[in-house]
Amino acid sequence: MILASLECEANEVPKYYKLQMTDLMNKIVSLTKRRGFVFPSSEIYGGIGGFWDFGPLGVELKNNLKKLWWQTMVQKRDEVYGLDSTIIHNPQVWQASGHTVSFTDPLRECKDCHQRFREDHLKGDKCPECGGKLTEVKQFNLMFETYVGAAKETANKAYLRPETCQGIFINFNNVLDTVQPKIPFGIAQIGKGFRNEVTFGNFIFRDREFEMMELEYFVKPGDDEKWFEYWLKERKKWFVNLGIDEKKLRFFEHPKKSLAHYSKRTVDIEYQFPFGWGELEGIANRTDFDLMSHSQLSGKDLRYQDEKGEKYYPYVIEPSLGVERTVLVLLIEAYREEKDKEGVRVVLALNPKLAPFKVAVFPLLANKPDLIKQAKKVYELLKPCFNTAWDDIGNIGKRYRRQDEIGTFWCVTIDHQTLKDKTVTIRDRDTMKQERLKVDKLINFFQDKLSQ
Ligand code: GAP
Repeated sequence: MILASLECEANEVPKYYKLQMTDLMNKIVSLTKRRGFVFPSSEIYGGIGGFWDFGPLGVELKNNLKKLWWQTMVQKRDEVYGLDSTIIHNPQVWQASGHTVSFTDPLRECKDCHQRFREDHLKGDKCPECGGKLTEVKQFNLMFETYVGAAKETANKAYLRPETCQGIFINFNNVLDTVQPKIPFGIAQIGKGFRNEVTFGNFIFRDREFEMMELEYFVKPGDDEKWFEYWLKERKKWFVNLGIDEKKLRFFEHPKKSLAHYSKRTVDIEYQFPFGWGELEGIANRTDFDLMSHSQLSGKDLRYQDEKGEKYYPYVIEPSLGVERTVLVLLIEAYREEKDKEGVRVVLALNPKLAPFKVAVFPLLANKPDLIKQAKKVYELLKPCFNTAWDDIGNIGKRYRRQDEIGTFWCVTIDHQTLKDKTVTIRDRDTMKQERLKVDKLINFFQDKLSQ
């Protein structure tokens, strides 16, 4: 839940940004557009609110983030298995999950300008855009509808999934049959989710199309509270290990009366965004609601059978995280401006594991064929191991600036001494210190640092 107002304060910013224009957010929006991290979707047609495209650098950052999550949540664990289910399910899935009835926002429409607003985001009883009268509250379902097959008939109506976890519940028996897991165990999935949010905004904080990283962790009923505490701690630790300031993270306990229909307990890990505290990850105790509900509607037995032959519906602890929201937090945490004698150095101090480029290779001078030839050799050596950039435009100082701004962790310069003794200079993004190293030691040097 975002606690701050979502009003756009700067008229010159296109509407699709719907942004609280704090200085920092302004700078991040501008940098990410200019350097190819995030573009407004369909920009040449004026954009489309709540949809964002990720450019050449953004897709690298996103992929690195998803890879780290997958490594931590699936590959490094013995009891968690991966899944990749479809975006469109049989519509009965959403009936069983409760989404067709309960996945709604309370809306009021302006009788004059016909804009719609979320009741819980309104401050008064008048339209915040034109001051007109508002209708009574109506429930608005957030699922995007579509039709499967040629005929646009009710019988063919389907939905784009608003969360990935239902794909996990409906594959529960398939996973049990193929890997025979022992409880407790988890099934994890990363994939797109779609929500027709009425108040999207704050850049990529709340989108209508986004990616989720979800784990459904199945436990014995009665052990659920213990595992809930375990996942709270694990997930917070993960954010801190990524480099997020612990002081800007807090737990928000959802009051009992506002819990979702499936939840016994939900705690959000909130982050202090420039526009206020907001949910970063939700951790829910979904009880046996989903498996039981799918069993009832499908007629298939989705109970787990333990070694003693006892059958029961496991309880589910669910840590659920949005990719774009995490990217926003990483950008906010990483953005730095440092004054130096040439002006201001902008640095994206991303964790090197997340940085789109790990290394950039430069020939000291762009007009010396022997330096270029040697630099190309170093570039070709590094490129299969690390995402490596090449830059031979402008002077070295400008190249450092360009790489700092996109978070590249090391810059390797090939100079005249390289031709004599096969050493290069390595310059560190954060300390700006330089050291010389033999070319044949580079891969080990970078690999060591990246594995720390
Ligand atoms: N299966 C549980 C679930 O969907 P949620 O709290 O609605 O829970 C999980 O969503 C996470 O997905 C949130 O913590 C947030 O990081 C992200 N998220 C939710 N709605 C989003 C939106 N409209 N845009 C971007 N991220 C969103």
